Amino acid sequence: MDRSSPDALAEPTPRALKDLPGPRPWPLLGNLPQLDLPRMHEKLEGWADEYGPLYRLTLGGKPIVVLADGPLIAGILRDRPDGWRRLGVIGSVINEMGGDGVFTAEGDDWRRQRRLVMSAFDPGHLARFFPSLVRVTERFDRSLAEAARTGEPIDLQAQLMRYTVDVTAGLAFGSDVNTIEAGSDALQAHLDKVFPMIYRRINMPFPYWRHLRLPIDRAFDRHLAEVHKAVHRFIAEARQRMAAEPERAARPPNLLEALLAARDADGSALGEAQIAGNVLTVLLGGEDTTANTLGWALFLLHRDRAAWDKLVAEVDATVDGDERVLRDFDRTRGLDYLEACLHEAMRLRPVAPLIFVEARRDTTLAGMPLRQGTIVFCVMRKPATDPAVLGDDAAEFRPARWLDGGEGPRALNRAAMPFGAGPRLCPGRYLALVEMKMVLSLIARNYTLVEVGTESGGAPAERLAFAMFPVGLRMRLAPRPGR
Ligand code: HEM
Repeated sequence: MDRSSPDALAEPTPRALKDLPGPRPWPLLGNLPQLDLPRMHEKLEGWADEYGPLYRLTLGGKPIVVLADGPLIAGILRDRPDGWRRLGVIGSVINEMGGDGVFTAEGDDWRRQRRLVMSAFDPGHLARFFPSLVRVTERFDRSLAEAARTGEPIDLQAQLMRYTVDVTAGLAFGSDVNTIEAGSDALQAHLDKVFPMIYRRINMPFPYWRHLRLPIDRAFDRHLAEVHKAVHRFIAEARQRMAAEPERAARPPNLLEALLAARDADGSALGEAQIAGNVLTVLLGGEDTTANTLGWALFLLHRDRAAWDKLVAEVDATVDGDERVLRDFDRTRGLDYLEACLHEAMRLRPVAPLIFVEARRDTTLAGMPLRQGTIVFCVMRKPATDPAVLGDDAAEFRPARWLDGGEGPRALNRAAMPFGAGPRLCPGRYLALVEMKMVLSLIARNYTLVEVGTESGGAPAERLAFAMFPVGLRMRLAPRPGR
């Protein structure tokens, strides 16, 4: 049977959704009480061990299909936007926060926005932006150097998020926000409240906040207002630049100017709300994801001295002489081992461990009929760590598996989908990889990893707050001898 088809599964499948196995639901509440939301991904992975790669839950009185089979997940993700859409509640929660953009758009509206967004993230555009990426990385180096000098532990997530916000604002909006050197009221400190609130609201059985603002919602409103102020400032600055230099419209140097200049064949432009929505979408899409992945990668590398030493040797052979930061864009392509470490970190600690979708029409899954509107939770880490595909060491951090040649990496690429799959594959993936290469090479070249872990010295717990992050991850650095 063709395993790339959404109708294939190794095990025989029950003929109807109601016959799927799964944990027994409680009366009225279904399986909700069994799901600890911040650890929902781990619970769903555990149930996949128990019930197999296709099972059923009941939430809010509705049946939910949970899918942990790689080829079937890929089949669904590829059949978008026509066959499947993002879970509707995600769109309504994000849009009412002002994030109406490419992440929540569907159908032809999505196609149009996607074309515009993609053009700003292609490798050619990244190459033009590279000098400002170097500047932001140098700033990051200064903040790390100070912490290394004093031996102070670095709150890794917060620092990395400042880096990713500065990079995204520079690349996508042409603005230099410098949150790395700003105080505690920096944009990042408001932005990092948004993902947890999205996650909280999409999982509420009832949208109470539309009728009653609890203290937590009022506090969030204040953070969101600050984020919107920044978004409108980015737009106003871009408009000023374009008014001063009208020729920018013909070859926009960043996403925001491309969105402002965009006209469809019929002359219609993106509306104001969609422009602001995409600015917020890209800010959010680029922040936690990249910062959390870097945090996990540093944690895993610190535990594997041989891998870290190999990475350091590769970086030393790539960065020129006395330079502290990689300055040549072409050389970022050459860091094969470092890139393998990142792929391995994303395989074992995917920051998007669940993708939620909904059928846009009556369809079938592994031969089982599904009605339009059926919700599927795709459990992304199970296929990426399946011993049947990866062998007995599937759960181990072994970056070399990405460099083995032959069928190995191809099978891995099919099994591990950290950036999603199909037409909605993450448009920021090249940028994310370049950013992560800049940060890891900066640290490898100039610092020694003294400690990467929690205050108690243990491994950080995983928490899902729309993106999955390491709890309480701290890093202590020392200057590398001779640097
Ligand atoms: C390690 C870093 C990142 C990871 C792991 C990641 C992962 C993902 C995933 C899993 C999706 C959903 C894909 C799907 O539905 O098939 C996605 C979508 C998206 N990502 Fe990323 N992402 C990362 C970095 C970024 C960056 C740096 C940006 C932009 C600056 C970005 C912008 C977006 C946008 C706009 C979408 C929506 C695409 C659409 O619906 O068409 N991401 N990302």
